[in-house]
Amino acid sequence: MRYLVTAALPYANGPLHIGHIAGCYLPSDIFVRYQRLMGRDVKYICGSDEHGVPITLRARKEGITPQQVVDTYHAMMRDSFKEFGISFDIYHRTSDKIHHETASDFFTTLYNKGVFKEEESEQYFDEEANLFLADRYITGTCPNCSNPNAYGDQCEKCGKTLSPRELINPHSQLSGKAPVLRKTKHWYLPLDTMQQEWLQEWLLSKEDTWKKNVFGQCKSWLDQGLQPRAVTRDLDWGVPVPLPGNEGKVLYVWFDAPIGYISATKALTAQWEDYWKKEDSKLIHFIGKDNIVFHCIIFPAMLKAHGNYVLPENVPANEFLNLEGDKISTSRNWAVWLHEYLLDFPNKQDVLRYALCATAPETKDNDFTWKDFQDRNNNELVAVFGNFVNRTLVLTAKYFENNVPARGKLDDAEKTCLDALTSAPKLVQESIERYRFREALSHVMDLARAGNKYLADTEPWKLYKTDPEKVATILNLALEITATLSYLCEPFLPFTSQKLQAMLNIQPKSWTDAFGNEALVAGHALGEASLLFDKIEDEEISKQIQKLEATKINNTPVEEISTGEKSLTPFKDVTTYDDFSKMDLRVATIVAAEKVEKADKLLKLTLDTGIDTRTVVSGIALHFNVDEIIGKQVTLLANLAPRKIRGIESNGMILMAEDGDGKLVFVQPARATKNGSTIA
Ligand code: MF3
Ligand code: ZN
Repeated sequence: MRYLVTAALPYANGPLHIGHIAGCYLPSDIFVRYQRLMGRDVKYICGSDEHGVPITLRARKEGITPQQVVDTYHAMMRDSFKEFGISFDIYHRTSDKIHHETASDFFTTLYNKGVFKEEESEQYFDEEANLFLADRYITGTCPNCSNPNAYGDQCEKCGKTLSPRELINPHSQLSGKAPVLRKTKHWYLPLDTMQQEWLQEWLLSKEDTWKKNVFGQCKSWLDQGLQPRAVTRDLDWGVPVPLPGNEGKVLYVWFDAPIGYISATKALTAQWEDYWKKEDSKLIHFIGKDNIVFHCIIFPAMLKAHGNYVLPENVPANEFLNLEGDKISTSRNWAVWLHEYLLDFPNKQDVLRYALCATAPETKDNDFTWKDFQDRNNNELVAVFGNFVNRTLVLTAKYFENNVPARGKLDDAEKTCLDALTSAPKLVQESIERYRFREALSHVMDLARAGNKYLADTEPWKLYKTDPEKVATILNLALEITATLSYLCEPFLPFTSQKLQAMLNIQPKSWTDAFGNEALVAGHALGEASLLFDKIEDEEISKQIQKLEATKINNTPVEEISTGEKSLTPFKDVTTYDDFSKMDLRVATIVAAEKVEKADKLLKLTLDTGIDTRTVVSGIALHFNVDEIIGKQVTLLANLAPRKIRGIESNGMILMAEDGDGKLVFVQPARATKNGSTIA
């Protein structure tokens, strides 16, 4: 038997945040470390997902190539994962040659087997950009929840999967224009027939072994009836469709990315086929909940259609992690970025691992707060785990010259303690096998707690003078617990495990050897003790909270205008009357208005100021029709330095009030006033 464990390939278009980690990388890492400790044959696969529209959009926006985008983020993610102790056997990438070949061959095999339906259909096309508008190139209003910014593949507000043709009021992300329809040919995976033939039966057989949230989603897809899915796109970034005469077409990113798991395994080992094709191999996909349909339905359909491949044994998807009560959002910068955490909290990888595992969104969405992070560190890692270990080691150094003392007679307190010691590994194992990592971690902590309580109850520091033999027994047991903790915490807190083993002067051990026998023999010389964890002060936490608050203020506008949740802009810093009085504000009337060519937001206004007639270019075209504003009085900042905008000289600026929803209105005198009137 062998395990192939995959963690979702993250898109190489931005850095990693705690949501990614809690969603799939930490749980998969815990699982794999555990399998390794159990001596099982396991390969742990991940890599960067380097195709897809978000990457090309980002490249366009930044004026660089898609390859430059993915090179930057691939390196960044690879390094952050490594530093955080995520122990992939390989971190590959989908722009790699091996991947292009593998994905290409996979498509060709399915094509030659006649799996695909080939179909011509009308799709949205941007005439200005000369491009078909796939997926995120197109936005519009969600037919399900009326979110005005739904994407062509999904509405992020209500989560519904969409196709571009379902969007109400679609417009291109490139030109902003309404698209036209054009004919184009694509290849479809016939999920509808597959549902009838085998897919439904196979999925329904997972009811008892897959997590409820995962099975539930699959079930509801089945109940709605699966539809054929296009596996190609009209784009120029991706794996080219390997059929002659199809330039300008690539494999859909969700077709090529999961094949990335196969290519990465190929890149890792010549035995890759054992993991993918032998019947006693277990394929396990760790993902976030937004990836369920792709891993539970589409990829298995692809594997089965290809033939020879094993299907996933389990897909333990997590729900989402929120941050301080708000959805994590890359565009709003509402996130704790892994690379920033690693800089702000050097050598505290395990603290974040601990906090994220303890609050993992295993069965429902959960919330990460900095306060909780601090409490978990100070009240659990420092006060329980660290305190127990430290007391044990300090007392052993003090009374027994840092050698393990021999165990004597066992009383009730010792027996309770031994029970905790012998049952802990089994409990941890059982929880991990069931993908319950929070529960598993709590069993580890329970052992530390039992140790702490044992020391508090027996108070060896008070006994030494009268009963040194009892103290020897107590510390022998406490050290045994410490050693067990060092083995048991490895999947969760690998850095701590290593540090603790150095302090105990013991080597890492597989769990099959570690438990059941005594880890430490009397007389064993211990290493040097130091603190495992230290307290995190309020100041460090408030710094992080302030950092988040600042992003809230700086980043609210753009995205939230559309969702209607925008809060009011906070007041600016104080200014002086002198500075204010430098502004020459006047009443003026708009006497003419016209659109500025090729700039959909700009209007060229002609203003009568009472003193002169002048041109002002204003960014209000999306809010007003030309006709409705002619004759309106407005407030003009008359002495703003002239500025050329799109080749037109603009002399001044008109003042607008902006409400919380991003709507603009003119700032006008309460009744008609002479043009040129001053405002102060
Ligand atoms: N890049 C996708 C995401 O971040 C996940 C791809 S998983 C794979 O949502 F299976 F396609 F590789
Ligand atoms: Zn919606």
